[in-house]
Amino acid sequence: VRIDDVDPHDEATLAQWFAVVEAAELHERPGEPDSFLEEQRALLLDGLPGPDGAPVGDELRQALLLRDDDGRAVAAARFELPVRDNEHSVWFRLSVHPDARRRGHGSALLAEILRRTEHAGRRTLVVDCEEPAHLAGRAPARAFADRHGFALELEEVRRDLDLPVPPARLKALEAACRPHAQGYVVRTWRDRCPDDLVDDRAVLGRQMSTDAPSGGLDWREEEWDAARVRHREALTAQQDRSYLGAAAVHAESGRMVAFTEVGVQRAEPRRVHQWETLVLPEHRGHRLGTLVKIALVRDLVRKVPEARLVSTCNATTNAPMIAVNEALGFRVNGAYLSWQRVL
Ligand SMILES: CC(C)(COP(=O)(O)OP(=O)(O)OC[C@H]1O[C@@H](n2cnc3c(N)ncnc32)[C@H](O)[C@@H]1OP(=O)(O)O)[C@@H](O)C(=O)NCCC(=O)NCCS
Repeated sequence: VRIDDVDPHDEATLAQWFAVVEAAELHERPGEPDSFLEEQRALLLDGLPGPDGAPVGDELRQALLLRDDDGRAVAAARFELPVRDNEHSVWFRLSVHPDARRRGHGSALLAEILRRTEHAGRRTLVVDCEEPAHLAGRAPARAFADRHGFALELEEVRRDLDLPVPPARLKALEAACRPHAQGYVVRTWRDRCPDDLVDDRAVLGRQMSTDAPSGGLDWREEEWDAARVRHREALTAQQDRSYLGAAAVHAESGRMVAFTEVGVQRAEPRRVHQWETLVLPEHRGHRLGTLVKIALVRDLVRKVPEARLVSTCNATTNAPMIAVNEALGFRVNGAYLSWQRVL
């Protein structure tokens, strides 16, 4: 077999790499495309090293393509090395074409990833994947990860919310929350966090990296500033995505103290992905998590009428977030699993 780096400028090879990713994804989750060529290309371009060796973005990203002895592209990986923080770790994803499994290709690509991890002087590897409901407890990644010495360190449950949510449900929920949230104002935006909130958004991004339950994963505090927020927004646009945000602002101090965001792939706007949601510790207990989500769902229905579903993943231990989601009407639909191996 041969393993090559994929240059995201090389259309033909990138298309072969993406075809493997897509075929693997659709095999596990028929009818639910999740990765898109433009989206992956933009990510890989963003992760290229600049003249000084560091990427412009937050991670160095490499795409690897494995060809079998007949020259067929059969396995693909994306390998990421955070450079702003978490420089002890790498993250990767592996996809083996459904017609070429159980022939050792996944293991061969993983061996190359392990080599590169050691070469980069990093020790912690993380790999994750969705386990759709029809494969509950038996996604191939489980046996593969186990065989290669990875430990399942974070179990999340996926929940979906059907859109549009009946307006009466949102109204009743909002009425129940409002009395607890005196002194807070809710604001929404699309694609660009307002200038007067962007520094606070960075503070919340840092807090998110430590407060969202991460199980046994060795994920450490992230470095965030306004430039990182803007960079991520620019990358989102390059990935052919739109995103919507909603925040609670503490009226007295003028500070943004809670937020929630969702991402929409323009080519496939029916399934919306819930991104992050956080309330600063000193402002918890005011139902702000629910109120920002209500505002966002209403905005989403108005601005992206094609949207049919919002998907979210929560750690099984994250009782407060799960309670908010269940109140909104989210229903369980599969799982999301993260494994870790420390070299
Ligand atoms: C998980 C995946 C990458 C494995 O790729 P692969 O090329 O089939 O894996 P390998 O042939 O190298 O398998 C190595 C070992 O893992 C275990 N394994 C892999 N797939 C398995 C399965 N479906 N059932 C049971 N054990 C499995 C076996 O122990 C296997 O050794 P064996 O074939 O000698 O018994 C592939 O199934 C895939 O692309 N799945 C969808 C994407 C995904 O889940 N990626 C995350 C990877 S952790």
